[in-house]
Amino acid sequence: MPQEFDAATPVTLVAGAPQIIAASDTSQKVALAYKTSRTWFKRDLAIGSPSLDGPMPERPGRPDKPKLLAPRDMPKRALGGVQGRVALIHSLAHIELNAVDLTWDLIGRFADRKLPRSYYDDWVRVGLEEAKHFSMLEDRLAQLDAAYGDLPAHDGLWQAAQETGHDLAARLAIILLVLEARGLDITPPMIEKARSLGDLDTAKCLEIIYRDEKNHVAFGAKWFRYLCDRIGKRPEPLFQGYVRTHFRGQLKPPFNDRARSEAGLTPGFYKPLASIKG
Ligand SMILES: [Fe+2]
Ligand SMILES: [Fe+2]
Repeated sequence: MPQEFDAATPVTLVAGAPQIIAASDTSQKVALAYKTSRTWFKRDLAIGSPSLDGPMPERPGRPDKPKLLAPRDMPKRALGGVQGRVALIHSLAHIELNAVDLTWDLIGRFADRKLPRSYYDDWVRVGLEEAKHFSMLEDRLAQLDAAYGDLPAHDGLWQAAQETGHDLAARLAIILLVLEARGLDITPPMIEKARSLGDLDTAKCLEIIYRDEKNHVAFGAKWFRYLCDRIGKRPEPLFQGYVRTHFRGQLKPPFNDRARSEAGLTPGFYKPLASIKG
């Protein structure tokens, strides 16, 4: 049952972030993300400080369903038909829900690092867009007589982030420049597939997501380079070091080199990592 949500305006941006992450009801989480973003862009909200506005949650709030499984325990996804379509959209909705929490974590957790206001402008915009993506996929599920929570979902994304909670550059490297960049590789073929199956509504959702995600990766690359500049390090080797330390999967080709480069993630970052895997 969706509970009554209280989308009260937070006292500061940094105070709003943990409220969004902690919300277990998804409509409350989305409403809080909308409210906080709008108030921020009206310039009615101070940034705040992590020491005054409280710690970030260790884990995000989640509804009772879906059941969260280890990635290896996830059932194989059926292909084709309405069931396959629902399974795909359900898994994407789950990724977007995690993206909401991960983005607001990026806003709240590192607020003692003296970052310019434009850092918050970029990530608040992303935090709003991820909430929109989740809502859009929820609506698409409803059109197919399904709902978020009907199927199990995997529990790996938040953990991937936890290990970089101490280091903003590492966090940007893993979440934006590895995981979100992967979205740029796999989304265009998904759009094609949906179109070829005549599922134009899903294709439309994916096109919106793809367009926005290119910007998210671009913000990731921009702020990663900014941090490298601040400490006088070259971005490519630093990125590669973070990936080797904090990312256990492989960087798998084929890469969407064009979209990645347009986002500022040039092949010098990721090609050396792909080629060493045997
Ligand atoms: Fe997204
Ligand atoms: Fe994103």
